[in-house]
Amino acid sequence: MEKKEMLYEGKAKKVYATEEPDVLIVSYKDDATAFNGEKKGTIVGKGAINNRMTNFIFKKLEERGVPTHLVKELNDRETAVKRVDIVPLEVIIRNYSAGSFSKKMGMEEGVKFKCPTLEFSYKNDDLGDPFINDYYALALGLASQEEIGQITQYAFQVNEVLQHYFDKLNIDLIDFKIEFGRFHGQIILADEISPDTCRLWDKDTHEKLDKDRFRRDLGGVEDAYEEVFKRLGIQ
Ligand code: TMP
Repeated sequence: MEKKEMLYEGKAKKVYATEEPDVLIVSYKDDATAFNGEKKGTIVGKGAINNRMTNFIFKKLEERGVPTHLVKELNDRETAVKRVDIVPLEVIIRNYSAGSFSKKMGMEEGVKFKCPTLEFSYKNDDLGDPFINDYYALALGLASQEEIGQITQYAFQVNEVLQHYFDKLNIDLIDFKIEFGRFHGQIILADEISPDTCRLWDKDTHEKLDKDRFRRDLGGVEDAYEEVFKRLGIQ
């Protein structure tokens, strides 16, 4: 599989065409941004960790019935993926209060919910990814009712698998964001699942092992990413 022209450069990844029309190559960068790109930095080694961690988790999800865009890991930073049309919804699942939820609801971080929550943001950098509901998504034609149903079902399924898995690594899955795409009419999981897109807290110490260390200038950013990678035991 060979990289051809670059199609798109995002905040954390570059996307390239290949000789196959249905396959793209994503290349993960060490660049980190927060607050819609206002804060910029580098997390050394992040690209390789996020690439390998995402692929490892996507394989587990596939085994448990969640279809993903993964085709093949090519090297530390690069992976061949199915060319999807991204559904412009950020799907956020929360198991504990944190981040924007805590701010909005005036609740301290780390309170376990009675059941997981799901919310959508409209993926639009100019608007700062505003919170929307199913009716907005339908009214704006972002996804069909059937697609929203499938996305919701997969998102809770991803949560079950991830929670169970991180639990064994002595990590609480506080919340995470995922994205889906359309591939020949089917909804499949795309983008990434990594410390950039999850809140992961050590069960005993409640130490943050995710991008909040960068967002909030807590220090030890690289160490946190490496710690998660080490616990996953990826060969
Ligand atoms: P929030 O509490 O800031 O809404 O974030 C919820 C989850 O979504 C958290 O795990 C971080 C992740 N996230 C992203 O992956 N990308 C983003 O742009 C934002 C704002 C959050």
